[in-house]
Amino acid sequence: MTIAISPITPDFAAEIGDVDLSAPSPAEIEAIKAAFWKYAVLIFPGQELAADEHLAFAAQFGPIEGDRVLDPKVTPHRLDTQFADISNLDPDGKIWSQDSRQRMYKAGNRLWHTDSSFRFLPGLCSLLYSRTVAPLGGHTEFADQRAAYDALPEDMKRTLRGLVAEHCIATSRKRSGFATFTDEESRKLPPVPQVLVRTIPQSSRKSLYVASHAGRIYGMPEAEGRALIDRLIAHATQRHFVYTHRWRERDLVMWDNRCTMHRGTDYDDLRWVRDMRRATCTDVANTCEQEGIPVPA
Ligand code: OGA
Ligand code: MN
Repeated sequence: MTIAISPITPDFAAEIGDVDLSAPSPAEIEAIKAAFWKYAVLIFPGQELAADEHLAFAAQFGPIEGDRVLDPKVTPHRLDTQFADISNLDPDGKIWSQDSRQRMYKAGNRLWHTDSSFRFLPGLCSLLYSRTVAPLGGHTEFADQRAAYDALPEDMKRTLRGLVAEHCIATSRKRSGFATFTDEESRKLPPVPQVLVRTIPQSSRKSLYVASHAGRIYGMPEAEGRALIDRLIAHATQRHFVYTHRWRERDLVMWDNRCTMHRGTDYDDLRWVRDMRRATCTDVANTCEQEGIPVPA
């Protein structure tokens, strides 16, 4: 049986049915990939996925990121480190406390970002699976960075050509109020360069590539670079570029980190359980290398 594709928007988000992601056939994987390169956000409702099945499906798209930002020696993790734990639960499965380190760190997910742009090899795609959803709030918004690029005035497109931004996890976390990385955590994740405009090989579409992790632009005065980044994020997240996902239990949502930004919306995280897990695949190279732009010193 071929997969069923139900577009939510003409070319940004689609729901996919008639496939069991715990055991997809090679033909189904190929059909999913073709849809993914077109839409950038795919929703698979009603999936029953064990952890190893989730990881096996994710591995079809690239190597799975295994190291987490927070040091497990300092902040114990509930899940295998191949998953980002997108929940409000402590290792013992209880709702976290108001002052928990995970909670302070994950507040940064409310800012527009793309996963792991703060790593030299950034995230290619992320696959987030919901087990328990909050009854109110806790949605995830996605912004189409290809459409945002297309909508830029020509002189702005020219200005952006060849520009490289510096991304760092400390930048976004400072913005969301978390500034207490240990020395070892900071050492592991120094600032990295990423181009501001990239081309997605599978579609040949150009895309903006910004995030709350981006702090300055190489070769530009700090304040000017920062202002340009803020302006681009404001442009790229206008409502007409955004799809809001309202979670159901057992949704698997995957997105292309190369050409989308996303953020979580608020919910009462000290009251409701929200339990989701994410696998993220690593991109093939740093974006400067992919664009043939020298990596700034
Ligand atoms: C993520 C993320 C936001 C949310 O899973 O990468 O940023 O909806 N999630 O909690
Ligand atoms: Mn994220």
